[in-house]
Amino acid sequence: MKVLIVGSGGREHALAWKIAQSPLADKIFCAPGNAGIRRHAECADIEDSDLRGLRKFALDNKIDLTVVGPEAPLCAGIVDFFKARGLKIFGPSQAAARLEGSKIFAKNLMRQHNIPTADFRTFDSADRAKAYIDMVGAPLVVKADGLAAGKAALVCHDTQQAHEAVNRILIEGEFGEAGNRLLIEQCLSGEEVSMLALTDGRCIAMMPPCQDHKPVFDGDRGPNTGGMGAYCPAPVLTSEWEKMVEREIIIQTIHAMNREERPYRGVLYAGLMVGEDEADVLEYNCRFGDPEMQPLAMQLKSDIVPLLSAAVEGNLADVEIEWHDGASLCVIMASGGYPGKYEKEMPISGLEEVEKMEDVLVFHSGTRMEGDSYITDGGRVLGVTARAGSMEEAKKLAYRAVEKIHFPGAHYRTDIGSKATFRQR
Ligand code: AMP
Ligand code: GLY
Repeated sequence: MKVLIVGSGGREHALAWKIAQSPLADKIFCAPGNAGIRRHAECADIEDSDLRGLRKFALDNKIDLTVVGPEAPLCAGIVDFFKARGLKIFGPSQAAARLEGSKIFAKNLMRQHNIPTADFRTFDSADRAKAYIDMVGAPLVVKADGLAAGKAALVCHDTQQAHEAVNRILIEGEFGEAGNRLLIEQCLSGEEVSMLALTDGRCIAMMPPCQDHKPVFDGDRGPNTGGMGAYCPAPVLTSEWEKMVEREIIIQTIHAMNREERPYRGVLYAGLMVGEDEADVLEYNCRFGDPEMQPLAMQLKSDIVPLLSAAVEGNLADVEIEWHDGASLCVIMASGGYPGKYEKEMPISGLEEVEKMEDVLVFHSGTRMEGDSYITDGGRVLGVTARAGSMEEAKKLAYRAVEKIHFPGAHYRTDIGSKATFRQR
């Protein structure tokens, strides 16, 4: 069959690599893709926001299955748009993608359906929001309602910061329309974990718990990024807790969406805060995580294509999902200055050497080809990913590979996986 992947980051590279392993995939396209994805797929120069262009491409090339990476096209209704012309596409409808597209929608759904989450209030008036802040006091989290590339949550340690957050969202309009409304929620503490599940709207296939590393520097310091590394399975969730999350959060959410007449299909991602005696939902995403998909793709033993197809066709109950033993871990190498301003077009060296290593893959997030060489083309540049018999070994192997790769200004966290290896000691 012919498969089209929509997107251009490390997540899409991991999907392209995994789909390319499948005997069912005869031909893979990616739009727009990147220099690394080119090794597994033919890249088409169509932006992920160009729904018309993407659909025309899928029709012209007789694509059998489209897999969407990023949230923006899903929230813009790419699934409905493709289905209207009889095209098969993996992901939630626009109505279901609202789970990520509106944080207020998601919080109300959780409140109505008893899904554990931090207490919250919603506001569209800055004065009212500030009066509420003064009443309840800090710490608090102030969040813009809509999509803001993961930057819409402002954790505030005092009321002054919380007032400033309200100004940024409602008055200065820093997040555009995404900030027409905001929510203020109780600040939770604990360890974060990402739980992802494939679903056809009735049945689910859970993925191992995964842990992202959002702050840019070691020890979770510095500003938040799109993610500096990830690993799975994350030992912060014991198998008993994992079952509880599956039952009380994932299945409950799928039921709730059915009851709201927004049946959810595709991959459901719940970002959780795991505290002493409970796990709460921080957010939902309507897609695979990035970088989470990079270790998940390596850890997945089963062919991914029958799983994706079954989620689209509604027969996920008939397909087994199997995972490798051991662990997978991904270290992001980023451009100097990221997540602030950074320079592009730095030459990358050492990739050929890493290519010779077993059980290591380098997924490209932001690269471009110049002549025969790879150059940097984004904030996050590479996801150096390794799989091994244990987390400790996967971590060593990934960092051994990272040390072989160079580009001017490159930086990365040196403690990806430390929380897991510490727990396992
Ligand atoms: P979100 O976009 O809602 O996932 O938030 C982004 C990040 O903000 C999360 O990964 C957390 O680190 C932090 N965060 C969000 N909500 C809360 C909360 N209620 N309590 C503490 N931290 C939070
Ligand atoms: N890694 C966080 C996300 O994909 O949203």
